[in-house]
Amino acid sequence: MSYEFILVYREVAPYVAMIQLNRPKELNALNLQLMGEIRDALLDLDADDSIRAIVITGNDRAFAAGADIKQMAGKTAIDMLKIDQFTTWDTIRKTKKPLIAAVSGFALGGGCELVMHCDMIVASETAQFGQPEINIGVMPGAGGTQRLTKAVGKALAMEMVLTGRFISAEEAKAAGLINKVVPVELYLEEAVKMASACANKSPIAIQLAKESVLKSFDSHLQEGLYFERKNFYLLFATEDQKEGMAAFVEKRAADFKGK
Ligand code: HXC
Repeated sequence: MSYEFILVYREVAPYVAMIQLNRPKELNALNLQLMGEIRDALLDLDADDSIRAIVITGNDRAFAAGADIKQMAGKTAIDMLKIDQFTTWDTIRKTKKPLIAAVSGFALGGGCELVMHCDMIVASETAQFGQPEINIGVMPGAGGTQRLTKAVGKALAMEMVLTGRFISAEEAKAAGLINKVVPVELYLEEAVKMASACANKSPIAIQLAKESVLKSFDSHLQEGLYFERKNFYLLFATEDQKEGMAAFVEKRAADFKGK
């Protein structure tokens, strides 16, 4: 398969594959095609018996700076509903093999949510995690309000979602969002090591164990995701969403009116 916005490496270690997001100029902003490519690559790798664990990474500057604001800016609530992008995200979440995120630089908005779709997370010391959607007149839509809250607790999740503050890799580690923080030269290597540690176990035991941990983590998640999605779509009916996203594109401060 050939892709435009990702690179797929089939054997970075025995039984370990790697997907690299590859829109560096846009800080790996997640447009719909890129998300579709991640989904397709994961479906392909999940079906391949020669692969037992998968690393997902970006580059040193950015894992991903969020959903592509330029692509979303002009959309209405009905457009967003019809695009139905979250089916793609749900498929990504259903990957049976362990997913290890190797994060450096920005992991923001949909980027942070994609990280939270992974099972384990290794970060470089320069990684920053955040849900800054509030700055552009919207809110997280790919599970951020649900998974972040479960991972770090209500106080920090509220602060990140309502103020847009980024947290450092160290703070993310202390809060329980990620597994490990290492120097920037080592994050990829450490993530591959973590993937290899899963890859030498029984693939069937790994699959059922992953599914079981997610069962505990995801109890009541579907209801929460449904609620989040409706509210995310609803915000595309506001003038503030248009203003917030236009302000980002035009590189100026947003002037929100509450309309
Ligand atoms: C589209 C983006 C982008 C994004 C960065 N770029 N983030 N384009 N969508 N999310 C583009 C910039 O427009 C710019 O392109 C180039 O990448 C480099 O970014 P700069 O802003 O010049 O870099 P810097 O000054 O270092 O600032 C980095 C940054 C900032 C702090 C990460 O780019 C930023 O605030 N980005 C948006 C973060 C965000 O709000 N994310 C949430 C998105 S909403 P040009 O062509 O101008 O040089 C979301 C909802 C998810 O994720 C819902 C479910 C899918």
